[in-house]
Amino acid sequence: MAPLSSLLVTGCLLISTVTAAGTETPFLSFPSPWTSMKGDTLWWEAYIKAADFVSQLTLTEKVNLTTGTGWEADRCIGTTGSVPRLGFRGFCLMDGPLGIRYTDKASAFPAGINVAATFSRRLMRERGEAMGEEFRGKGVDVQLGPVAGPLGRVPQGGRNWEGFSPDPYLTGVAMAETIGGIQSRGVIACAKHYILNEQEHFRGSVDVRIDDKTMHELYLWPFADAVKAGVGSVMCSYNKINGTFACENEWVQNYLLKNELGFQGFVISDWGAQHTTLGSALGGLDMAMPGDGGPQPYRAWWGGALTEAVLKGDVPQWRLDDMVMRIMAAYFRVNTGTRPEINFSPWVNTTVGPVYYSANASWQVVNEHVDVQANHAAVIREIGAKSTVLLKNLRSSALPLSKPASIAIIGNDAQDPPGGPNACKERACITGTVAMGYGSGTAEFPYLISPATALKLRAEKDGTVFSNTTGNWDLSAAKAAASNASVAIVFAAATAGENFISIDNNAGDRNNLTLWDNGDALIAAVASVNPNTIVVLHTAGPVLIDYARTHPNITAILWAGFPGQESGNSLVDVLYGDATPQGRTPFTWGKSLQDYGDAQLMFTSPTPRTPSQSFPEGVFIDYRWFTSRNISATYPFGHGLSYTTFSYSNLTVTKNSSVAGRFPPQVEGQTADAPLFGSIHLEDLEQHTAPEGFNRISPYVYPWLNLTTFNSNVTASPAVTDFPKEAQDPSAQPILAAGGWQGGNPALFDVLFTVTVDVKNTGDRKGVEIPQLYVQLGGNNNPHFVLRGFEEVPLQPGETKSVSFNLTRRDLSNWNTDKQNWEITSDKKAVSVGASVGDLRLNATLPL
Ligand SMILES: *[C@@H]1O[C@H](CO)[C@@H](O)[C@H](O)[C@H]1NC(C)=O
Ligand SMILES: *[C@@H]1O[C@H](CO)[C@@H](O)[C@H](O)[C@H]1NC(C)=O
Ligand SMILES: *[C@@H]1O[C@H](CO)[C@@H](O)[C@H](O)[C@H]1NC(C)=O
Ligand SMILES: *[C@@H]1O[C@H](CO)[C@@H](O)[C@H](O)[C@H]1NC(C)=O
Ligand SMILES: *[C@@H]1O[C@H](CO)[C@@H](O)[C@H](O)[C@H]1NC(C)=O
Ligand SMILES: *[C@@H]1O[C@H](CO)[C@@H](O)[C@H](O)[C@H]1NC(C)=O
Ligand SMILES: *[C@@H]1O[C@H](CO)[C@@H](O)[C@H](O)[C@H]1NC(C)=O
Ligand SMILES: *[C@@H]1O[C@H](CO)[C@@H](O)[C@H](O)[C@H]1NC(C)=O
Ligand SMILES: *[C@@H]1O[C@H](CO)[C@@H](O)[C@H](O)[C@H]1NC(C)=O
Ligand SMILES: *[C@@H]1O[C@H](CO)[C@@H](O)[C@H](O)[C@H]1NC(C)=O
Ligand SMILES: *[C@@H]1O[C@H](CO)[C@@H](O)[C@H](O)[C@H]1NC(C)=O
Ligand SMILES: *[C@@H]1O[C@H](CO)[C@@H](O)[C@H](O)[C@H]1NC(C)=O
Repeated sequence: MAPLSSLLVTGCLLISTVTAAGTETPFLSFPSPWTSMKGDTLWWEAYIKAADFVSQLTLTEKVNLTTGTGWEADRCIGTTGSVPRLGFRGFCLMDGPLGIRYTDKASAFPAGINVAATFSRRLMRERGEAMGEEFRGKGVDVQLGPVAGPLGRVPQGGRNWEGFSPDPYLTGVAMAETIGGIQSRGVIACAKHYILNEQEHFRGSVDVRIDDKTMHELYLWPFADAVKAGVGSVMCSYNKINGTFACENEWVQNYLLKNELGFQGFVISDWGAQHTTLGSALGGLDMAMPGDGGPQPYRAWWGGALTEAVLKGDVPQWRLDDMVMRIMAAYFRVNTGTRPEINFSPWVNTTVGPVYYSANASWQVVNEHVDVQANHAAVIREIGAKSTVLLKNLRSSALPLSKPASIAIIGNDAQDPPGGPNACKERACITGTVAMGYGSGTAEFPYLISPATALKLRAEKDGTVFSNTTGNWDLSAAKAAASNASVAIVFAAATAGENFISIDNNAGDRNNLTLWDNGDALIAAVASVNPNTIVVLHTAGPVLIDYARTHPNITAILWAGFPGQESGNSLVDVLYGDATPQGRTPFTWGKSLQDYGDAQLMFTSPTPRTPSQSFPEGVFIDYRWFTSRNISATYPFGHGLSYTTFSYSNLTVTKNSSVAGRFPPQVEGQTADAPLFGSIHLEDLEQHTAPEGFNRISPYVYPWLNLTTFNSNVTASPAVTDFPKEAQDPSAQPILAAGGWQGGNPALFDVLFTVTVDVKNTGDRKGVEIPQLYVQLGGNNNPHFVLRGFEEVPLQPGETKSVSFNLTRRDLSNWNTDKQNWEITSDKKAVSVGASVGDLRLNATLPL
């Protein structure tokens, strides 16, 4: 029932570039930490409930909860086995970060990159809450989002738009707010893809060699915020890190995530990112997805293979218990109230269909078509408007529009997609307006308001003459339409996505930074004839538009990103001033690809079977590179105009002298020994096999032993003897200097300084300013500026507000690799506050 072609278009399974199992260099100096009550009271309470539940489980029931039942085997993108004896159904996991993939009557939210552009904690939270309500309403346990990996090392990164921003601080805030929102509605969030999955090319095989400082200061940073926010699950990524696949990687999973960051939840493999039974179990994986894809006789790396490994003593019982404790603790932490039934199937659109899709079995009502959209269109429209970045507004007369005599709408990107908004599978085309990228991080649009439709409606209301031209290659038609209009609005796009789909030879990552579908020529043609040309861009990230910045006829440029289902309405709100533009660009607009420095995408590898990458730029990506190398950007990070103007004054710095010292005070001591929950009976192998007469679904992954093959060596590649003794060691572990609590050492979050600034609206319209706080950490190895604070400040004309930013110990520290700890260096430190990293208005030094 699941032909190969369907595997190829689903975006989850990775078949081509996976290295053969067993060729990994087994590790290990970082044994797996076990859950404890190291975290907030929600984790403690959940831990106690989980301990009670897990203690009742048999070996195969435990294994069931760790392993997916197979690709397309069940009702969700991923479904684990269940515990029928206790009436506990398997976990239902669903894509994706901007809404529910593959279902109807659910919303298509703005992409992560858009909510980052709002710089609004409130909107980040509200989007999370609304998404959580929708997943919950369909009966989903785990939403596979939000995304902090890719962080956005390279501007062409195919999945950058699913995440937030190449700035780790902004991404960290967005992660925490999104997770808080999702989980407040009873759905476990999943922080993904952990970690260094920074490009789509070679994602399943590339070995990223990364130094410890870059890891901590850049890529791990937002995941620390996710853990601090109480995230219930983390998805390990496809790539390797320092020689070992992420999902088997003791350094990133055991040492960094579970020990240093004190993560109490569970790690899920990306679909097909698990490669061995023991390496993943001892390396810190807790849930295998989609569950099948391993060797015979179990067709799985876990399932029966894990049961066998535990019975043979290759995987100690405490490690299995810890996997299940982590899964159930996350469940009890987040799931309050009655757990809803799963009421849809991602694999069919019909009401009646197979419950077990790959087996084509058990036909019944699978899609109840439950409408979960509520009033979420309102927050979607608001985010769409408030994430639109007004990059240029040449004359204040250009925007906002006020009953123009005529408008000409030009470009395919303004139009309703022919065939409907979901005509292209996984949204992999740009035949109409682009409102999300493509791949598994998509949702079905319930509807899509195109810019042309919304602008036409508005024009009719205002008595404005409306004209509309499609066809990006017919430049004379575009010019003819534009030349007589009082305003010409020209639309262009550049999309990106996941590499299981290529568009125009772009294999997920963009091949270049120019607009698609003749967009640059179209803009130039329109601007050559109309002195009031407004450019609207729907792009996955930066494009090269310096020509438009300097062009005298281009009076305004707006980046609208991937705004979701309300695209046209959001845009009209901004263009006509019903919403005040507050979007600020969450990435830097360079003048060339070379401007982004050493952070370059690897398109080809000299060793294509074993591709490897070092990140030579270290922490210097995006604006960290531009500012440190004095490269002038077309538009700098944080830039975005308003319809009014603001002034800054009275920067004051207050020191909290009760917290001092270069290193944070350490949480002392060590953990307890690894606990066991219930006992496993080794004597009788029969009891770990399927009950007599059990009617198996096929194909399907079960936790039971196959006694015919029990004495072969199927599970042991790498063999248990390849691992050092520590990998199995249940004795207490020391608490790390940088660890001790959820998110790391709690002293990292002590407030050392409070910075206050007065912001005034100096124009005659109300507006929202986003004052940004940048820190100079000093010395030669730091970027000139790092973002460490922002606020959303609504102001009436003439109004002044005082805005405060707290600077924590973490905000002012660098990672000291030798000491394995955060340290406030002796370098002179300063703060700057302003409207973007390129527009710093006030400076002060920090009296350390
Ligand atoms: C494991 O889960 C499957 C699927 O939900 C179920 O049929 C089976 O009975 C479960 N096995 C045990 C031991 O509970
Ligand atoms: C990973 O590799 C980098 C580059 O070779 C090295 O600097 C770093 O120490 C390694 N990290 C670990 C944990 O081995
Ligand atoms: C056990 O494994 C053998 C060999 O792969 C296979 O023929 C048999 O069907 C398996 N039994 C079960 C119950 O899966
Ligand atoms: C279900 O409908 C959506 C939206 O129309 C479409 O994109 C998708 O391909 C359909 N899926 C199946 C399995 O027919
Ligand atoms: C799946 O099962 C249905 C109902 O039993 C049947 O009509 C259909 O032909 C089957 N499809 C395939 C591909 O076997
Ligand atoms: C714009 O023009 C296209 C092509 O003629 C047409 O299909 C579409 O309906 C028009 N849009 C509006 C809003 O009039
Ligand atoms: C960049 O890629 C897009 C999409 O493939 C293509 O349309 C465009 O022509 C390319 N630009 C250049 C300069 O090659
Ligand atoms: C701007 O538009 C006018 C038409 O109004 C045109 O004559 C002029 O050449 C354009 N300027 C540029 C730089 O294209
Ligand atoms: C400057 O800010 C401080 C702290 O917010 C405040 O106490 C003081 O009154 C302000 N001074 C002026 C001149 O506004
Ligand atoms: C399992 O592996 C061990 C060690 O490599 C070997 O001695 C033994 O014969 C193998 N057993 C089977 C059944 O292949
Ligand atoms: C700043 O820190 C103080 C003390 O920790 C806290 O009371 C206050 O709420 C914080 N303010 C902001 C804006 O986070
Ligand atoms: C603040 O510092 C930055 C960076 O050194 C500088 O570009 C800017 O001009 C300074 N602003 C003021 C008001 O001194």
